Amino acid sequence: MNAQNPDMTADTALVPEIDSTATTAMATETTMLNPRFYTTDFDEMDRLDVSSIRPEWDRLIAQMKSDPNKGHFKKNADWDQIDWAAMEPKLRVEFIDFLVSSCTAEFSGCVLYKEMKRRGNNPDICELFNYMARDEARHAGFINDALREAGVAVNLGFLTKAKKYTYFRPKFIYYATYLSEKIGYARYITIYRHLEANPDQRFHPIFKWFKEWCNDEFSHGEAFALLMRTDPKLTSSFVNKLWIRFFLTAVYSTMFVRDHARPEFHKALGVDIEWYDQEVFRKTSVIARQVFPIEVDIDHPRWLPNLRRMRDAFGEMDAAKRRGGVAGWLGKVTGGAKALTAFVALYTIPVIKREPPKNVRLEPIY
Ligand SMILES: [Fe+2]
Ligand SMILES: [Fe+2]
Repeated sequence: MNAQNPDMTADTALVPEIDSTATTAMATETTMLNPRFYTTDFDEMDRLDVSSIRPEWDRLIAQMKSDPNKGHFKKNADWDQIDWAAMEPKLRVEFIDFLVSSCTAEFSGCVLYKEMKRRGNNPDICELFNYMARDEARHAGFINDALREAGVAVNLGFLTKAKKYTYFRPKFIYYATYLSEKIGYARYITIYRHLEANPDQRFHPIFKWFKEWCNDEFSHGEAFALLMRTDPKLTSSFVNKLWIRFFLTAVYSTMFVRDHARPEFHKALGVDIEWYDQEVFRKTSVIARQVFPIEVDIDHPRWLPNLRRMRDAFGEMDAAKRRGGVAGWLGKVTGGAKALTAFVALYTIPVIKREPPKNVRLEPIY
């Protein structure tokens, strides 16, 4: 991308307090809470052998190849015009934050999948990652179009070069990406169903696209479920079960903290954040029984109180960061200690043991 790209025209912003430079900076920043870009050992992933799951694999790939959402990510008559300047300022800031964060997460998938396709030699793996990169590019592009209407599109080309990449070994990529795809499905479908029942709360047309969209995420999750099945140790050894437990706790608690940072956005949707998050955890946990031998107990008496503690600790750290100086440093340290204590309390909640079924494949049912 170059300076002539519309993404760079910061002066076209319709939102007084934010422009494209600001949203690109938001997307580029890597903190504990915002979406990361990943890199991995692509050669190891290229050595995956899907022959043990061949019939299910071929069915999934055929479905992806048929490209059911080919024409879906286009604005049509359902795309109502939004008066961004008239939107309540706090809601506008939080909604833009939501769109930037979602666009970054979608684009992060695109970057990782495209790189796997580029580096690989294994035809099965390359074909899968090609289709998944295609889908995520559409998703990120569609969100960025919505941002562009407000004059605050993220410069994705710049992001690819400027954002820090986090290295995860392949098995961590499987756990984290599987979860984020299935959570993505659960988040999109839960919002979609809520707004289907309460159309007056749909304050932006993008939510109308979520149903077909989430089916893409569901299929991507299916692909990772199948990949994990190619090596039973990934989900059965003692150490790996501890890692799965870690990823479940980390991904769920991060989502809880992040969603609570957008109270006005959820109020506008008419969604209670705790209800929404628990609903998303529940759907994700039920789906994840297809491959994970354990499930975090989200109804345990320690679950919600420690999520709230963690959210408050992040709030304290954020306030301390803004304060700066010695008091700010001290606030960050004590906030960090509180967040860690809450995380340990969540991680040590006894898990529910599950026996994954012989047949791994699922269909989206919500
Ligand atoms: Fe996506
Ligand atoms: Fe996806």
